[in-house]
Amino acid sequence: MGEVCDADILAAFLAADGDYVSGATIAEDTGVSRAAVWGRLERLRTEGFAFEAVRNKGYRLETTPEGLHPALLGAHLLRLACPAHLHYLAETDSTNTQAERLLADGEHTPFVVVAGRQSAGRGRRGRAWFSEDPGNLTLSLALRPQLPPVRMQTFTLWMGLSTCLAVNELCGVDLKVKWPNDLHWEGKKVAGMLTEARSDSEMLRDLVFGIGLNVNSLPESFPPDVRPLASSLREAAGRPFDLNATAAQLIVALQRASDAFLEDRYRETFREQWPCHDALVGRPVTVSLTDGDISGDYLGIDETGTLRLRLPDGQERLFAAGDVTLRKQ
Ligand code: BTN
Repeated sequence: MGEVCDADILAAFLAADGDYVSGATIAEDTGVSRAAVWGRLERLRTEGFAFEAVRNKGYRLETTPEGLHPALLGAHLLRLACPAHLHYLAETDSTNTQAERLLADGEHTPFVVVAGRQSAGRGRRGRAWFSEDPGNLTLSLALRPQLPPVRMQTFTLWMGLSTCLAVNELCGVDLKVKWPNDLHWEGKKVAGMLTEARSDSEMLRDLVFGIGLNVNSLPESFPPDVRPLASSLREAAGRPFDLNATAAQLIVALQRASDAFLEDRYRETFREQWPCHDALVGRPVTVSLTDGDISGDYLGIDETGTLRLRLPDGQERLFAAGDVTLRKQ
């Protein structure tokens, strides 16, 4: 309740776009007394907000916290008219794991888990996902899709492509999708995605889509071994981003993308847009599997999201899973 109201108050400031808002207007719009508004602003000040107060004019939002703040994120979502059902945690083991716990407890879907920090973030194939930098985003979207498991083959690819399109437009960058689960900028990883689903023999029971998006990390903040391979939106755009606004935009993009997927309204865009944003197009690549590496020329993906590789002997081989690295030409 406290956060909902704080989000409403902060949404009024975001709507004013740097202008003054009178205490009376906020009180009326949010349904609390003027004294309560004042009390809430005082508390928000202790959380990193700065409000200028001017007699007969009201309050003006001067500064917002740099890190994730649940009410500010909620305010941005309100401004975007996104009815996201949000679970914010300053810290958790993994947002995917937390989403799974909530699903097991019967939480109503769709919902989003956002964490300020993960202590045991998971990547694909049992790898860890490190995101110590509080300027980055780690979040998960939980769904109960009424679909057969076979329909989900292209889900993560579609979610990645949709995120790529949205981020490129909103942030003015040129990210690419790298099969199967990454977003890259100039050959370096900016985002990784992990979809985990449980199904009965015929129907999916539930699904968690997690994404780690490097937003404001500077190159030197990545661990030395990761530095040559990782990048961020900040590096790609040459400027930092408002983390709460970016989180809200990402959540909106993910909810829209998953709606389009579940309603089967994604195929045309997927077919047309994937090749336009494909990091691997026309490149010699190596696909790493558990039992060895296979090299060839990348030919794109088919309708089911399967990777097509031209082997040196001219044969075509298909891969439903694996890790791909670009080979030097
Ligand atoms: C990968 O690149 O291997 C996938 C990384 C996925 C990381 C995200 S961060 C939010 C969500 N919670 C997790 O534990 N993992 C995913």
